[in-house]
Amino acid sequence: MTTNKETAGPLDELRRRDALAEEGGGAERRERQHREGKLSARERIALLLDEGTFEELDKFVTHRCADFGMLENRPLGDGFVTGYGRIDGRLVYVFAQDFTVFGGSLSEANAQKICKIMDLAMRNGAPVIGLNDSGGARIQEGVMSLAGYAEIFLRNTLASGVIPQISAIMGPCAGGAVYSPAITDFILMTAKTSYMFVTGPDVIRTVTHEEVTKEELGGAMTHNATSGVAHFVARDDAECLALIRELLSFLPSNNLEDPPRRPTNDPPDRTEPALNRLIPNDPMMPYDIKDVIHAIVDDHYFFEVHEHFARNLVVGFARLDGRPVGIVANQPAVLAGCLDINASVKGARFVRFCDAFNIPLVTLEDVPGFLPGTQQEFGGIIKHGAKLLYAFAEATVPKLTVITRKAYGGAYCVMASKHIRTDVNYAWPTAEIAVMGPEGAVNIVYRRELERAPEPDREALRQQKIAEFRQRFANPYVAAERGYIDAVIEPAITRPKLITALRALENKRDTNPRKKHGNIPL
Ligand code: HXC
Repeated sequence: MTTNKETAGPLDELRRRDALAEEGGGAERRERQHREGKLSARERIALLLDEGTFEELDKFVTHRCADFGMLENRPLGDGFVTGYGRIDGRLVYVFAQDFTVFGGSLSEANAQKICKIMDLAMRNGAPVIGLNDSGGARIQEGVMSLAGYAEIFLRNTLASGVIPQISAIMGPCAGGAVYSPAITDFILMTAKTSYMFVTGPDVIRTVTHEEVTKEELGGAMTHNATSGVAHFVARDDAECLALIRELLSFLPSNNLEDPPRRPTNDPPDRTEPALNRLIPNDPMMPYDIKDVIHAIVDDHYFFEVHEHFARNLVVGFARLDGRPVGIVANQPAVLAGCLDINASVKGARFVRFCDAFNIPLVTLEDVPGFLPGTQQEFGGIIKHGAKLLYAFAEATVPKLTVITRKAYGGAYCVMASKHIRTDVNYAWPTAEIAVMGPEGAVNIVYRRELERAPEPDREALRQQKIAEFRQRFANPYVAAERGYIDAVIEPAITRPKLITALRALENKRDTNPRKKHGNIPL
């Protein structure tokens, strides 16, 4: 074939621009990024997506800021790489901020790039993944960059509950670069290289004279364990991107689809005799609820969410008979499994996510009640605990509950009880269902009788009353007599029982009254 001079010129120009766009903020800044243990925006996208599937959009967009001599420096793409591709063959939209270009900051122009892929994702029913590495609103652009963020926040909000939105924090992120992720469904952070704050250590020192490091203020463990803002911590960029791929394997692409099934060789009728011996004889002794989760789910595999925050409640994804489920479980090994403010907020958000995306909920219950004390009451445990109650009550996905041991007081009602539309409620024979524990109940109900008893006999009387109370109430049979429990089951057959129930709920349809939206106690 002969080469036509007239096409060679334009092709060369295209290649020149392509190369320029891929250059980002230059080799020196890219090296700094690598020295800090971070990948570049393009390297991240390549690792995230199925090989060769990335289709870039708006590669030649430039900013339009004329202030501060900015017109002389208009990198192609304006520091954001945006487009779409595939994860396990499924369509996703993605943006990655390039910290080497103006610190990955958000301009009017690159905000429009994000809005474009968000609009496409909504129209095509596909998840949006944001790889954030940004100093927030571009200072030189003033209100135009703020407007850009507001446009993104609006789309984050409208997309909430329609398509999954996942945010990875992979560098120092400030201002709008943390507020947009905060509206999305899941936040992942890389250890030692990512930070999230509304205002950084320098501003804090000036305003409040507090000395705090970047790591203490907004590092990965601060937000995974203390604030609860982030749901996952990854060792590095590669692990973070692998976690996103795995998370997506449990999720549908949008709220009109069911989550994807994955065939398994784990038999649906597998029994687990060890569960019959798991609950300690002493009701005050802890055990690890994750042993129960691992025993009953496909291939013993549990993908925990929010692992380091409010560890008294365990949440995460697993599969039963190949079908993704959301697990919510009290953890007797931490704070005796009590519900507190953090656990309630953590649980409520997870339950609402699962409900929005058609993921059935499996609740494992062993809860002595809400955590008592002034710290919790002053902090608003009433309204925060109500969030979890509201979330479970509102959920219309298939709901299955297994009470393994304690189901006391308000926590009994909250943890997907029959009364708030749970489809299947099982109890192990070790279940104790009552308004409160035997000791507390006896001290209140028999207070006068105990006071009147002569001192030498008082303790014996108390113990006798506790034994009577336990005999009458601390078992699953009073609830089973009322039909509040559908069946008392041998722990060993929990997996087959749940799978059989889940199959029967495959076509479940339930709705809430028509309304603009509810008013969850925030
Ligand atoms: C323009 C920015 C920038 C920004 C960083 N850069 N942030 N340029 N606008 N917001 C540039 C720097 O000038 C520098 O350019 C390069 O990016 C790398 O930044 P460094 O400071 O050298 O990096 P580092 O030491 O790692 O610190 C990162 C940082 C810090 C913690 C993010 O840069 C920082 O504090 N930036 C400002 C954060 C902020 O306050 N943003 C505005 C938020 S308000 P050169 O050319 O030297 O390489 C906001 C409003 C939204 O977002 C609304 C919320 C509701």
